[in-house]
Amino acid sequence: MHPVELAKDIYWVGAVDWDLRTFHGQALSTHRGSSYNAYLIMDERPTLVDTVWPPFTRELMRNIGEIVDPAKLEVVVANHVEVDHSGSLPAVMAKAPQADLICSPQGKEGLQKHYRGDWRYKVVKTGDSISIGQRTLSFIQAPMLHWPDSMFTYLVEDQILMPNDAFGQHIATSFRFDDQVNMDEVMEEAQKYYANILLPFSPLVTRKLDEVTKLNLPIKMIAPSHGIIWRQDPGRIVNAYAQWAQPGGDNSCVIAYDTMWGSTQRMADEIAQGLVDEGVPVKMLRTSTTDMNDLIAEVAKAKGLLLGSPTVNRTVLPSVGKLVHELVALRPAGKVGAAFGSFGWSGEAPAELNSGLEKLKASIASEPLGLKWVPDEAELVACREFGRKVARAIKE
Ligand code: FEO
Repeated sequence: MHPVELAKDIYWVGAVDWDLRTFHGQALSTHRGSSYNAYLIMDERPTLVDTVWPPFTRELMRNIGEIVDPAKLEVVVANHVEVDHSGSLPAVMAKAPQADLICSPQGKEGLQKHYRGDWRYKVVKTGDSISIGQRTLSFIQAPMLHWPDSMFTYLVEDQILMPNDAFGQHIATSFRFDDQVNMDEVMEEAQKYYANILLPFSPLVTRKLDEVTKLNLPIKMIAPSHGIIWRQDPGRIVNAYAQWAQPGGDNSCVIAYDTMWGSTQRMADEIAQGLVDEGVPVKMLRTSTTDMNDLIAEVAKAKGLLLGSPTVNRTVLPSVGKLVHELVALRPAGKVGAAFGSFGWSGEAPAELNSGLEKLKASIASEPLGLKWVPDEAELVACREFGRKVARAIKE
């Protein structure tokens, strides 16, 4: 994709990665690809904000070159050290060694360790600003959103916020703006991105949103480093973040489970019916057949979380164990949960899953429910009642 003008003399010069299917090593699924957004501001001091992942360096340099000779760049802003945004810095700085490289204090430390470049670093902190001619760039540090070095750049006169990863989405699109694309797909990807990357930092997100609100910055456009640019309705993603950062979720329930020979599946079916009896919508997601990151996105949305696994070798099935491991790291707050599972002899799985819920500080709606071998009619009735009990706790 070639450059696109966001506002007078401000251009998207990044790259669209249609082929990306996993990210962060292979830790994150990206079914719809992604983009690496870099921005060029043509002023008295031509300025580049962020770069792209190294496989797309050629495209970045071509796009800059369609507007200005990259050797004429005088300012380069590195909002974030992670390689998908800084990876092309060596190529850019080789062309424009005279450019000032603007970054946060932690950004300088990270960039030096990544690239060891002899570059003209200018370290900035929240509240600092620089003039690039007719325009002023001001900076807001955003530590742990999502790395210690993360920083937002604000274009004062144009009222454009460039917050790097924040408000981004992994989606490849032919057009760059929110009024040109399928927003249902974009919001789905934005929520998945939040759930899988920003969820553990939710209290910081809330604080940062408050801080930026207090700064009273008019924001006409939000131009993140992945996905579409919010120009029609930048408030939509800000409001969504405010909501996603809150503990809990809507009054629905995810049953995340796996089964070996079908007994835990039968338990899950009856538990789901109990939730439905009480009017609570349920999503039954089998951990061994559902994409882990899609599953985490669903868990983040729902207040209720039921975990189920049979006991195998005194523990849970591997796919359920992986989910619990991920959730303990991501720390979704405010969940109402319970655990269940079938067993043949030792029966440790429900208690183990319950202890995973306790690590999340979930409100435990019921004692763990374990059933031996194949559930009979009376036990299926107990499963349904278990579901009803959880549903009532979710609705409280
Ligand atoms: Fe934290 Fe898109 O990199």
